[in-house]
Amino acid sequence: MVPVYRLGDSLMLISIEREHDTTLTKQVYEQIRSKILQKELKECERLPSTRELARTLGISRNITIEAYDQLVAEGYLVMKPRSGAFVARGLSLQMKQDDKSTSSTYVQANLLSQDTIDFRTGNPAMDHFPRKIWGKLAKSVCEDSPNSIFGYSSPKGIEELRHCLVDYLLKNRGVRCNKEQIVITSGATQALSIITSLLSSPNSYVAVEDPVTDEMRNIFISCGALIKPIPVDEFGILPDYLSQKEKPSFLFVIPSHQFPLGGTLPIQRRIQLIEYARRMNCYIVEDDYDSEFTYEGNPVHSLQGLDSKNVIYVGTFSKILSPSLRIGYVVLPTELMDSFCHDRWFKDRHSSTLEQLILTRFIDEGYFDRHVRKMKKIYQKRRRALVDQINVCFNSPKILGQAAGMHLVVEFKGLSLLILLCIF
Ligand SMILES: Cc1ncc(COP(=O)(O)O)c(C=O)c1O
Repeated sequence: MVPVYRLGDSLMLISIEREHDTTLTKQVYEQIRSKILQKELKECERLPSTRELARTLGISRNITIEAYDQLVAEGYLVMKPRSGAFVARGLSLQMKQDDKSTSSTYVQANLLSQDTIDFRTGNPAMDHFPRKIWGKLAKSVCEDSPNSIFGYSSPKGIEELRHCLVDYLLKNRGVRCNKEQIVITSGATQALSIITSLLSSPNSYVAVEDPVTDEMRNIFISCGALIKPIPVDEFGILPDYLSQKEKPSFLFVIPSHQFPLGGTLPIQRRIQLIEYARRMNCYIVEDDYDSEFTYEGNPVHSLQGLDSKNVIYVGTFSKILSPSLRIGYVVLPTELMDSFCHDRWFKDRHSSTLEQLILTRFIDEGYFDRHVRKMKKIYQKRRRALVDQINVCFNSPKILGQAAGMHLVVEFKGLSLLILLCIF
């Protein structure tokens, strides 16, 4: 579980890894320090009290006191009598990209011991990866394929997989494209990173939903983009907050299941976004990372289906199958194909041809649909168990974003600052 605090306009996400070599005090200290330096916590912003932070993280108060003391000693925080801890003034240091590696990333990458239930967001149920079938298909791909598959291939990815995706995306997500508009990427991350390099410029900005995770924000920042946060409510982005004067390089949204708050963007706002993009002559980048898992009602069709000229659609197999495959894809308006493929070629050529072929067979032979159906049942069961227990253990919790995806958000009464983010 990752406790998240709402502080002012931003979300402060602190995750604690008990098994980690770093002490708990250092984990709290480093995460707050990094948020201050990255300006996620703004000058003069108030932090939760040490008691409140300790209670939420389930750690001893001595730890939070020690972490705050160190931050005060180093000048990051100031304590005001009877008011609490505040971010100090004069911390507008522009961080170098290398310094921005966030402390939350190391927690993500760290492996858990066997007997720990993994509530961290981001990973699918890894105990259900279809090992046997994948192994069988890998063997047959290796044995049956021509020698050419072991050489360099197209930066677009293999034709068979792109062909499969055209049908799959139209049927399941209402995405309208042909295979010449699809590039297989190394996850959604690479797609977003190349898009940012192509579209952003030093005198413009990327309009990004707020809140969004550090992971996402850092993709744009690491490509040199300036970020402008656009507020989100429980349904998703609020288009009225988009600037009518300054055109963004692009607008990044997660309309099917906003991350982290879990909202599904209503059609009226989708239309507003598209009208905005047309008026401002900019692209919308739609991240559709987990909409296969819709539990209530039908999945909402993609934004791209409403406007294939202004919307760039990004998808991934990280949540449905496994992030270790590093297979995602992007559906591009035709005019961006050449520059995207050019950039891709010089970054890492293309995704693994072997893995792409295995995945294609996995889809063609019906295993993919079966796997999604199976996983949906598993996540639905886990979600029910989690929601039941949250309702039993807490007083009138407000649960958001449980209709779809692999995480939910809980807001606790009386602790309006606190939101709990869980994977199920
Ligand atoms: C909002 C969002 N989109 C997409 C992804 C998937 O990234 P990738 O496909 O690179 O694994 C993630 C990963 O956690 C995510 O949080």
